[in-house]
Amino acid sequence: MQFNILGLCLLASTVLAKTVLLTNDDSWASTNIRATYYKLKEAGHNVILVAPVSQRSGFGGQFYVQQNKNLTSNGEFNYVLQGAPSWGHELTDDHIWYYNGTPASCVAFALTYVLPKYFATQNYSIDLVVSGPNEGTNMGGLYTLSGTMGATYNAVYRNLPAIAFSGSNSNNSFYKDSLNLSDPLDPSTIYAEQTVSLVNTIFENQGSNPRALPLGVGLNVNYPPVGYQNETCVEPKWVPTRITGDFASTADMVFNETAGVFEWSPHSYAALSVCNSGDCSLPTEDFIISRTACQASISVFQVDYDANLALTLQTHDLLKPLIG
Ligand SMILES: *[C@@H]1O[C@H](CO)[C@@H](O)[C@H](O)[C@H]1NC(C)=O
Ligand SMILES: *[C@@H]1O[C@H](CO)[C@@H](O)[C@H](O)[C@H]1NC(C)=O
Ligand SMILES: *[C@@H]1O[C@H](CO)[C@@H](O)[C@H](O)[C@H]1NC(C)=O
Ligand SMILES: *[C@@H]1O[C@H](CO)[C@@H](O)[C@H](O)[C@H]1NC(C)=O
Ligand SMILES: *[C@@H]1O[C@H](CO)[C@@H](O)[C@H](O)[C@H]1NC(C)=O
Ligand SMILES: *[C@@H]1O[C@H](CO)[C@@H](O)[C@H](O)[C@H]1NC(C)=O
Repeated sequence: MQFNILGLCLLASTVLAKTVLLTNDDSWASTNIRATYYKLKEAGHNVILVAPVSQRSGFGGQFYVQQNKNLTSNGEFNYVLQGAPSWGHELTDDHIWYYNGTPASCVAFALTYVLPKYFATQNYSIDLVVSGPNEGTNMGGLYTLSGTMGATYNAVYRNLPAIAFSGSNSNNSFYKDSLNLSDPLDPSTIYAEQTVSLVNTIFENQGSNPRALPLGVGLNVNYPPVGYQNETCVEPKWVPTRITGDFASTADMVFNETAGVFEWSPHSYAALSVCNSGDCSLPTEDFIISRTACQASISVFQVDYDANLALTLQTHDLLKPLIG
């Protein structure tokens, strides 16, 4: 009996070994991405981490192609220094790469350079792109603005299944200061474990399907405060959500008369509340993260930019007689 159970476990872990491309916008040296790298590997996956050498939050889908061969300033946390090559990998691990570009361009760098040049004999094909977990949530209208999302929707547009993860731990922390994979209350460690749990669920349900997610579809996941940020929350409940709708936040600015400058303000107007597709009965990400406790939001998005058929036809009517 025991032998059979062991046999099944070995079989399950063999079947589940997938190739994951891991990226983010907070830099390759941030604690969240390193924790996730090691936890995905621990789960038996082949992980290739390729992420910006420095902080690229808020760069959205910007595609930055580096022209300098060497860095003209130090990378994040001074981990890679000015004058070093603009891309490279950890000396002790050739699966951990940096590129001096945006998250979206890191995905392209991984697919067009790292994989064919450094892993040609392995002939890897990416089963899933994981972006994050970001240091800070990415909800509602931050979809286009977030670099974590930028890498994700670019990957989906390139036919790859991709998932963006964002945490409520917004400190920009260096893995050499903060990584502790055996600390059950460390938010980065908890998020990494939760990420593995979600990713493995998708791989298990994928079965013999060649794709982990439908073509053109990605996920946006946000985590609530956990562990040291809220010790009663170590295993958030998963909740399906929508990106647009009631309470959805987006970026805005307000003028501060005293300081004489504009300031960031995410909630100064009611964001677009519309339901043209998807499940209109679902709560928004903002509702689940900001107004409930210990729940993680999962939104399903698509990168088919076109409006649905009814809206397209309705709008075509407004273009008559110019068209049809
Ligand atoms: C770039 O760095 C390499 C060493 O990493 C050095 O050999 C080369 O001279 C540098 N090039 C420039 C333009 O600084
Ligand atoms: C590499 O894998 C692809 C499918 O992922 C396959 O079509 C191709 O033939 C493989 N190439 C080599 C050299 O094994
Ligand atoms: C935030 O990150 C920095 C850089 O790693 C670290 O020195 C600092 O201790 C962190 N602060 C908190 C509150 O975690
Ligand atoms: C990591 O966390 C564990 C559990 O909280 C703790 O015992 C250990 O001292 C920590 N390690 C470091 C290097 O802080
Ligand atoms: C922490 O999480 C618990 C549920 O696990 C919740 O009841 C509580 O309100 C949360 N605290 C904060 C400050 O969010
Ligand atoms: C405006 O700026 C001043 C000076 O920097 C600051 O003390 C104040 O908190 C700001 N007001 C608001 C509403 O953010």
